[in-house]
Amino acid sequence: MKNYQDIDYGPLEELIGTWKGNQGTDIAPGLKGVDNNSYYETIVFEEAGSVLNANEQKLAVLHYRQIVRMESNDEIFHDQTGYWHWDADQNILMHSFVIPRAVNVIAGGAYSGKTDENGRRVLEVQAKLADPHWGIVQSPFMSKKASCVEFHQTIIVGDRKMSYSQTSLIDIYGKMFEHTDENELFRK
Ligand code: HEM
Repeated sequence: MKNYQDIDYGPLEELIGTWKGNQGTDIAPGLKGVDNNSYYETIVFEEAGSVLNANEQKLAVLHYRQIVRMESNDEIFHDQTGYWHWDADQNILMHSFVIPRAVNVIAGGAYSGKTDENGRRVLEVQAKLADPHWGIVQSPFMSKKASCVEFHQTIIVGDRKMSYSQTSLIDIYGKMFEHTDENELFRK
């Protein structure tokens, strides 16, 4: 890890800081079918500096922690941590993260440079089970009973506002379930 000064985080730059949002909607698999949950959350992105891989690949890295609480009872019902990486030479974004169900994801994708109608940057990554590059690794129990087979995420960020939408495709209770989460957050 290097000194944090002068690191160019590229399209990740605007994520740095503390974000709060209370418009979250979660659609999750339940034993009786579909669970719909309203939630609020805090996500803190911090600089993690730059790394050099194999003396060649330079990554600018942010670390984050996401704590999600149920609107109805204020209990934490999702806790996630990981890194976002920017490879400027290859124009690649990576999002590697873990959730405490013993599921690890490394999602990635080319940075398109797209912006929305308000000029906010669009960041898109995806992962698939058994993909050798952008993949998903999970415990034997989760592989058997609640396997995450795909993950897609889009973040739109700019002007201290961020919205995200993500789909985790879960093979659970004998069928494929589109577990989706979305929220809009504001930076202090
Ligand atoms: C804001 C983000 C998320 C929220 C609020 C959330 C919430 C939930 C909820 C409420 C359930 C239903 C089971 C339970 O009662 O706990 C669930 C299940 C599950 N979630 Fe998430 N989740 C989120 C993100 C993710 C992500 C990113 C993944 C994986 C890439 C994931 C994987 C799973 C799996 C595999 C299950 C099935 C577990 C089971 O019911 O046995 N979730 N999630």
